[in-house]
Amino acid sequence: MKEMLKEQIDLIDEHLGKYLEKKDNPQSIIYDAMRYSVFAGGKRLRPILMLNVCKMCGGDIDEVIPFACALEMIHTYSLIHDDLPAMDNDDLRRGIPTSHKKFGEATAILAGDALLNKAFEVVSSYTGKQTDRAMKAINILSVSSGTEGMIGGQIVDILSEGKTITLDELRYLHLNKTGAIIRSACVIGAVMSGASEEEIKAVDKFAQNLGIAFQIQDDILDVTGTEEELGKPIGSDAEENKNTYVSLTGLEKSKELAEEYSDSAKKSLDIFGSKADFLKQFTDYLTDRRS
Ligand code: IPE
Ligand code: IPE
Ligand code: MG
Ligand code: MG
Ligand code: MG
Repeated sequence: MKEMLKEQIDLIDEHLGKYLEKKDNPQSIIYDAMRYSVFAGGKRLRPILMLNVCKMCGGDIDEVIPFACALEMIHTYSLIHDDLPAMDNDDLRRGIPTSHKKFGEATAILAGDALLNKAFEVVSSYTGKQTDRAMKAINILSVSSGTEGMIGGQIVDILSEGKTITLDELRYLHLNKTGAIIRSACVIGAVMSGASEEEIKAVDKFAQNLGIAFQIQDDILDVTGTEEELGKPIGSDAEENKNTYVSLTGLEKSKELAEEYSDSAKKSLDIFGSKADFLKQFTDYLTDRRS
C-alpha cells in the first residue's frame, strides 16, 4: 500500500512540477508562492482517489492526470485561503509556515487565486480524444469548488462559528467544505473512464460517505493529534469556536460515526467486486490516519 501510494504521489508531483514551472519575469514570486504550498507535502489523497477510481472503472490513467493535478491545485488554494487571518488564522500548514506568514497576505491571496486559475488552464487545455467526457469533468470540477460545493461549505463554516448548529447542519457543512472536492475527485475518475450511470452513482455514494468520514477524522485529529504529526496547529477549531463532530457529539461518538461513514463508503463499492480492494483499503487507511 505504502509503495503504491508513493509511486502515485511521485507521478502526480512530476506533472504538478511541469504545470507549475516558474517563469523568469517580473511576477516570478507568484510561482514561488504557488510552488511553496503545493510542494510542501500533503497526502495527495484527492489525486490518488481519482487515479484509483479511474483504474477501478477500467480507464486510462493518462486521461485523468491533468484533472488530478488541477484538483490538487484547487485543494491547495483552498488551504492557503482557509489559513488566512480572516478565516481560520493558522500559522502552520504541511509542516511549514502558512503562505501568508511566509509571503505576506497579499501574495498568499494571489497565490490561491493563481492556483485556482491554473487548475482551469490545465484542464481546459485538454487535447485527448474524450472531449465530451472532459467537458463534463470540467463542469464537475467548477461546480464542486464553487458556491454549491467547497466555497458554499466554507461560508457556512464561517457563519456557524460560535453558534449552536444541529448535527444535520454540520453534516451539510462537511459534505460541502470537504466532501465536494473529494466527491469530484472520485466522480471525475469515473466519468473520464466512461463508467456507466450505475457505476458513477456508486462512486458518488462512496465519495460522499468518505468525505464525511475524512472530515470527522480531521476534527478528531484537531483534538487528539500533535502538531508534529499533522504539520498544522492543533486546537485550531476550539480557538475559532468552530462546530465540529467532536464539539457536537464528543470524541467517542465521533470515532463511531467516522467508522460508520467509512463502512458505508466501502459498501457502496461492492458492485465493483475485487477491483475495489485498493479503494476499500485506502478508506480504512484514511479513517485510521494520524496525519
Ligand atoms: C485538509 O486536507 C483540509 C481538509 C479538507 C480537512 P488534507 O488533510 O487532505 O490536507 P493535505 O493535502 O494532506 O495537506
Ligand atoms: C478546511 O477545513 C476545508 C477546506 C480547506 C476547504 P478545516 O479548516 O478543518 O481544515 P484544516 O483543519 O485547517 O486543514
Ligand atoms: Mg476551515
Ligand atoms: Mg482550517
Ligand atoms: Mg480541521
